[in-house]
Amino acid sequence: MTSILGISAFYHDSAAALVVDGRIVAAAQEERFTRKKHDPGFPSHAVDYCLGCGGVKPGQLDYIAFYDKPLLKFDRLLETYLGFAPRGFASFREAMPLWLKGKIHMRRLIRHELPEARQAKLVFTEHHESHAASAFFPSPFESAAILTVDGVGEWSTAAIGVGKGNHLELLQELHFPHSPGLLYSAFTYYCGFKVNSGEYKLMGLAPYGQPRFASLIRDHLMSLREDGSLWLNQDYFNYCQGLTMTNERFHQLFGGPPRRPESPLESRHLDLAASIQLVIEEIVLRMAVEAHRLTGEKKLVLAGGVALNCVANGKLLRAGPFEELWIQPAAGDAGGALGAACFVWHQLLENPRVIHAGDQQQGSLLGPVATPTEIIQCLNDAGVPFEQFSEESVLLAEVARLLAAGKIVGWFQGRMEFGPRALGGRSILGDPRNIGMQSQMNVKIKFRESFRPFAPAVLRERAAEFFELPANAESPYMLLVAPVRKEHRLALKAADEKTMAEDPDLRHRVNVIRSTLPAITHVDFSARVQTVDEARNGRFYRLLKAFEQLTGCPVLVNTSFNVRGEPIVSAPADALRCFLATDMDVLVLENQLVRKEKVAVHSLDRERHLKQFEPD
Ligand SMILES: [Fe+2]
Repeated sequence: MTSILGISAFYHDSAAALVVDGRIVAAAQEERFTRKKHDPGFPSHAVDYCLGCGGVKPGQLDYIAFYDKPLLKFDRLLETYLGFAPRGFASFREAMPLWLKGKIHMRRLIRHELPEARQAKLVFTEHHESHAASAFFPSPFESAAILTVDGVGEWSTAAIGVGKGNHLELLQELHFPHSPGLLYSAFTYYCGFKVNSGEYKLMGLAPYGQPRFASLIRDHLMSLREDGSLWLNQDYFNYCQGLTMTNERFHQLFGGPPRRPESPLESRHLDLAASIQLVIEEIVLRMAVEAHRLTGEKKLVLAGGVALNCVANGKLLRAGPFEELWIQPAAGDAGGALGAACFVWHQLLENPRVIHAGDQQQGSLLGPVATPTEIIQCLNDAGVPFEQFSEESVLLAEVARLLAAGKIVGWFQGRMEFGPRALGGRSILGDPRNIGMQSQMNVKIKFRESFRPFAPAVLRERAAEFFELPANAESPYMLLVAPVRKEHRLALKAADEKTMAEDPDLRHRVNVIRSTLPAITHVDFSARVQTVDEARNGRFYRLLKAFEQLTGCPVLVNTSFNVRGEPIVSAPADALRCFLATDMDVLVLENQLVRKEKVAVHSLDRERHLKQFEPD
């Protein structure tokens, strides 16, 4: 038996993954255990969980694979510092203490954190090798082109490669400071959102705007070559020398200083979002065309933070040269832990790959599961009354009935998801046909800016009826955006058209009813689709079936089980706390069901819970 522990840490989204004899046994992000969003620390809890799940003692580990090469990264920081000195000292000083404490002495640090794993060989894979491995090895393809795009690893910011059987090779790389991810992050920062987490909001904002700044971006900030390589004009950016992303020249070009976080969004910000989204799509598409030209492959696998841009992915699938896409659900740096472990098993140890019809990712349900004892104890300790269902079908029929009656359900079952999306393991569910559902879920539960619609989870076999997806396409990891089909769109009333065009409050715009599934339809009729199948999703699939049986509708609203700024819930106690702190109506913890009306909620507990999390 060969056990390989993959680790990513010390940047953001630390994670661990365990691969035993080529099988992905477990993977989880540290934030879920520490309840600290994007926790960058050494993933001790995630490691403990993974080893426990596989029944592997630290002393039995054969390899520990770390997702990047610290010395190369140090090299990049140092050279960037020297290149921009003395202006760069601020960013260098910020980065250095962490490096000195952890990164440079990574070998020693890992040995220190896992003292019992003395016998395990330490392997450091390159950052984009880790991303590439996470995209290709678990994919359902025997061979495929590989595209990884992110902010920055050691030096690489994007890579094109090819995978065949149990081997992958990176053919071309783009180097820092020229980075599609950092370009997108610069606009995230400029529009007042948090870098490394607010990119999703910028993407959600784009459909409101006109891409009137796109040519300004193309002409001044960058040069995109025929082969998809990108050059960024450093006269406009500040990430090499300072602690911000953009500089005065950038601000002058786009007509003002960066938006202050949480301040009102102006139409300029909507147009900026639309513009950078268009440009990132052009970059990704051109890189994909080059990957196709270099490899001649028909299929493409993707990873790296930019691969979470599901709007770009959807366009790539519809317009690009590839017949099929597979995107690593933990596309950001957390997935590097999984990639590094898979890389050791296949690439370094030369073990063959077994190709599965779906993929090797197991629905990305690779996290912890709660036992009935744990759940019941948690509810009893909190004095929360609950009903217990021994028959799954009875439970599902009741949950479907509650959903159809407009209730919002916290849904906790099976293993927790690996990656940033909730896929029906730790989700909040609602009825997408309900016209008030979107604002209700936003205001009462997520406590967030509500200009973005929610995502639909749809029975895979009925997805093409509702969304413009190729007949055989699936989107099991909610990583493709597709338009709602014309037959489900509704004509707008004159007053609604005025709202759509002019209302400065985006929440009013997104609340205009424009399809038969208003809670999940964005202002441009797009939807972030999750296709649900029984093999991957089990009980969640059967819940959708029960809802379909009752209502004829095979779609549910699926949003992550958390409040704004909180990591997705992991243990039953996290779920219960979140349930009690919000206006969720029902909580389902495996076979146990809690109705809010039967629970005495203390407003103090509520405040205490919400106060812990800084808005993201
Ligand atoms: Fe990365």
